[in-house]
Amino acid sequence: MKIAVLISGSGTNLQAIIDNVKKGFIPAELALVISNIPQVYGIIRAQKHNIKTIIVENKKYTTREEFDREIVSILNKHEIDLVVLAGYMRIITPYFINNFKNRIINIHPAILPSFPGIHAQKQAFDYGVKYSGCTIHFVDEGTDTGPIIFQAVVPVKDDDTIDTLTHRILIEEHKLLPTAIKYFVEGKLEINGRKVLIRE
Ligand code: GRF
Repeated sequence: MKIAVLISGSGTNLQAIIDNVKKGFIPAELALVISNIPQVYGIIRAQKHNIKTIIVENKKYTTREEFDREIVSILNKHEIDLVVLAGYMRIITPYFINNFKNRIINIHPAILPSFPGIHAQKQAFDYGVKYSGCTIHFVDEGTDTGPIIFQAVVPVKDDDTIDTLTHRILIEEHKLLPTAIKYFVEGKLEINGRKVLIRE
């Protein structure tokens, strides 16, 4: 199975995927990393491991769909089976979703359905929740609304800042995302309506 990871930033989740592919925990090929922003550190991480990287700058396209058509054509050209959004700061169009139905996974740094969208850690922090965490889910046409694969919970401490909370959540992200990918690759995830059943 061939995996593509889409990023827009530093790529610590990408690094967790690279490490877990290398050690055989994820039995698949990490065939491609795409960034919509040039010169992000995630691209350097991929290059260090000789993984193919492609930059597709969204600002060079007039519509979201035109941009996504280019992304989909690249993914198809590389015969990608699974798309992982790991800090990819773009809204995905129905065109993209329909071409990769039930084959796009996203990581979100909050316990959905609370705090969807951007700055999820800040949203949770400002709201004053006592627990937050992260969610791995299949991508559907809404913003962070697709069927949930896994969630991990972390406490919010009285002396936390947004940065310390973000860091605590990231530690869980780096475990949960590779695990979800492994389960997908091994054919253990079954979508049944809103629910994802785990077949051991
Ligand atoms: C993570 O918090 C992820 O949940 C969110 O964007 C952040 C990406 O971080 N979607 P990184 O680029 O993987 O370090």
